[in-house]
Amino acid sequence: MTKPQVHLISHPMVQHKLTLMRQKDLSTMSFRRLLHEISMLMAYEVTRDMPTHLVEIETPLETMQAPMIDGKKTVFVVIMRAGSGFLDGMLEVVPGARVGHVGLYRDPKTLVAVEYYFKMPQDMHERDAIVLDPMLATGNSAVAAVERLKETRPKSIRFVSLLAAPEGLANFHAHHPDVPVYTAAIDRQLNEHGYIVPGLGDAGDRIFGTK
Ligand code: URA
Repeated sequence: MTKPQVHLISHPMVQHKLTLMRQKDLSTMSFRRLLHEISMLMAYEVTRDMPTHLVEIETPLETMQAPMIDGKKTVFVVIMRAGSGFLDGMLEVVPGARVGHVGLYRDPKTLVAVEYYFKMPQDMHERDAIVLDPMLATGNSAVAAVERLKETRPKSIRFVSLLAAPEGLANFHAHHPDVPVYTAAIDRQLNEHGYIVPGLGDAGDRIFGTK
């Protein structure tokens, strides 16, 4: 059986920005800007081993074979709504990527994920999917989103979150041991409302200023 992989992104710039984001008095504008910056930095880590191919180019001095990434084969899969806060930064690093969306809401009583939207680009079997959701909390949305995504048979799947709870990671890996998770921190636990603690609160509300 595949051993589940967790890539903890410990880069000091990511950790510093995450600390700023956790603070409760940060403005919506600053929270959003920091998430944008962190998502660019995390995009470097999640694409670190992307395959490259050689193309022939001409420098001012001579012809050479030089490596290029085929960004068109990447699809970012946004778990709505908080995942969209991760998207722009990722697209700055991989501008040729396509974007899919999964709409799920957490039933407040059962915390189970219910799907209301699903739209992916064509030819998913040729694409490497990078799923975006800042908070891997119970893991129920992530499990459901990846389950649904697997029906489209992408070439590979990675999952990127800003924060993860140990319970969410365990749940996710129990269902998807083949999907590596990239995260900037694994916090202590979930509270009784399914929030990550110490965490940063409701990521969607903080990105969009809805509370
Ligand atoms: N979703 C959030 O936005 N925050 C949490 O702590 C858990 C789920």
